[in-house]
Amino acid sequence: MGRDNGWVRVTEVANVAPREGREVRLNGVAIALFNLGGRFAAVENRCPHRGGPLADGIVSSLGGSVTVTCPLHNWRVCVDSGEVAKPADAHACVRSFPARVENGIVMVDMTAAALEEAA
Ligand code: FES
Repeated sequence: MGRDNGWVRVTEVANVAPREGREVRLNGVAIALFNLGGRFAAVENRCPHRGGPLADGIVSSLGGSVTVTCPLHNWRVCVDSGEVAKPADAHACVRSFPARVENGIVMVDMTAAALEEAA
């Protein structure tokens, strides 16, 4: 892994199978990285219900958003916003982080996490 301002070089695209998640540790934070086909998404790998590993969940669509179903009790979390989509009355979320692909390498912006750490 290397750094580019707040952007962290994480792994080659080929290392995360399409429609699957993988846990990576960036700046001391456990991140669930998801390969959504043409793009990637990254959220904290800690379900807002009871801390389940979101990277091990099933990725699917719900309404207009892409969600991951927590393997512990089936809450569904939007992989882009980090908000809980189901149950709708949960009003909870996990932190989400911008992700992009550059020259076949997945990059995640950890600027927000670094600022929180410094505060
Ligand atoms: S820990 Fe994720 S749904 Fe309970």
